[in-house]
Formats: sequence, C-alpha cells, structure tokens
Amino acid sequence: MTADTSHRLIPFSELQSGKPRRVEHQGKGILLCRVDESVYAVDDTCTHEDISLSLGALCEYRLRCPLHGSEFDIRTGVVLDEPAEKDLAVYPVEIVSDWVCLK
Ligand code: FES
Repeated sequence: MTADTSHRLIPFSELQSGKPRRVEHQGKGILLCRVDESVYAVDDTCTHEDISLSLGALCEYRLRCPLHGSEFDIRTGVVLDEPAEKDLAVYPVEIVSDWVCLK
C-alpha cells in the first residue's frame, strides 16, 4: 500500500528560514513561511489587492506586502498593519518524512 502523497507541498529542506516560498496546490497559491524549524502556510494573495505576497518581506512572524506595506501575522493571518483590512486565510501544515504537508 502506498502512502497518500496528495497533500505534499514541498520538501522541508527546500525552505529557508525567513524566505517565503509560493507553492501551488489544487490551483491555489499558498505561501509557505519557515521560521526556524516551524512552517506556516497562508494565502499567497494579499487581501488588499491582487499581488503575490511571495514578493514581500518576512521578519520573524510579520509578513509585509511589497505593494502598499500591509503586514500580517503568518501564525494567525491577522492584519497587523493597514491598508489591508481583511485577514489572510491560514492553512494547517505538518512535516511528514521531510515533506511539508497540508493537514
Ligand atoms: S496590495 Fe498588499 S497592501 Fe496593498
């Protein structure tokens, strides 16, 4: 019997701490953010306008949008700084056999 690999996103070893990485899963852009040995997953599209947050900057748990500077907490998706008013969707992930997987 083979293990279900449908929720695999990327090998954990390919993620660098502090460098967000966009992946596609079932047609949706998901942004993976590694902070030390933990990984957080949020929507890759800013809730203010349609831009990829993979172009932004990650400082600890704060993700800054490259266009107008909104900031989000990658652990909860909560807006920390305007102009965005809507929180980001977050996705629970786990690391299984060195793969980052959606739960
Ligand atoms: S597009 Fe992200 S803050 Fe405006």
